[in-house]
Amino acid sequence: MSSQTDIILRLGDLAPNFTAQTTEGSIDFHQWLGTGWGVFFSHPADYTPVCTTELGVVAKYKAEFDKRNVKVIALSVDSLDEHKSWIHDINETQNTTVNFPLIADPDRQISLLYGLIHPNASENATVRSVFVIGADKKIKLIITYPASTGRNFEELLRVIDSLQLTANYGVATPANWKNGEDVVIVPAVKDEEIPARFPKGATFVKPYLRITPQPNL
Ligand code: BEZ
Repeated sequence: MSSQTDIILRLGDLAPNFTAQTTEGSIDFHQWLGTGWGVFFSHPADYTPVCTTELGVVAKYKAEFDKRNVKVIALSVDSLDEHKSWIHDINETQNTTVNFPLIADPDRQISLLYGLIHPNASENATVRSVFVIGADKKIKLIITYPASTGRNFEELLRVIDSLQLTANYGVATPANWKNGEDVVIVPAVKDEEIPARFPKGATFVKPYLRITPQPNL
């Protein structure tokens, strides 16, 4: 039996396309993404304290997202008028200027498309989820937080850095890795390919654990 809660998106799936009304005009999501990366994040509701702080932080991180060629867009089931009015509060209280679009989804169509209504949490509010979408428009990361926990956007940037290193250089990042630290060579890279692909050298800790300096520095 199908229901409106059946949609489950998984890593590697194409991010579903949609058209939407946003605080920066109407968009076709895939066209709006263009050829870069995207962060699509939902928040439970406008005029709520944690969400107010989150959207303020995202506005302040715009230069960090731009540097990584990432466009950011938010969504909740509130109306466009509510979004526009709430943005004044965010700007005022968080000492910033919201500089990314908020999608209005009062009929919940986009929320349902992305599985953002979890009825046992709330029938009427979106969960606090975040999707990272690659340049190929495939979903690279999905995290859903409790409504009462504001996201750590530093962690989101860290994962984007890791994903982009994997996409561009064939490396993965170890536990607690931070930008600038050594990375690991993915198993798909053969030992004999390493000198050409990783001119900074590699340390073979084990045949399957090969460390190299971060290649884009
Ligand atoms: C908030 O964004 O502040 C919030 C939303 C739902 C439940 C708890 C907090």
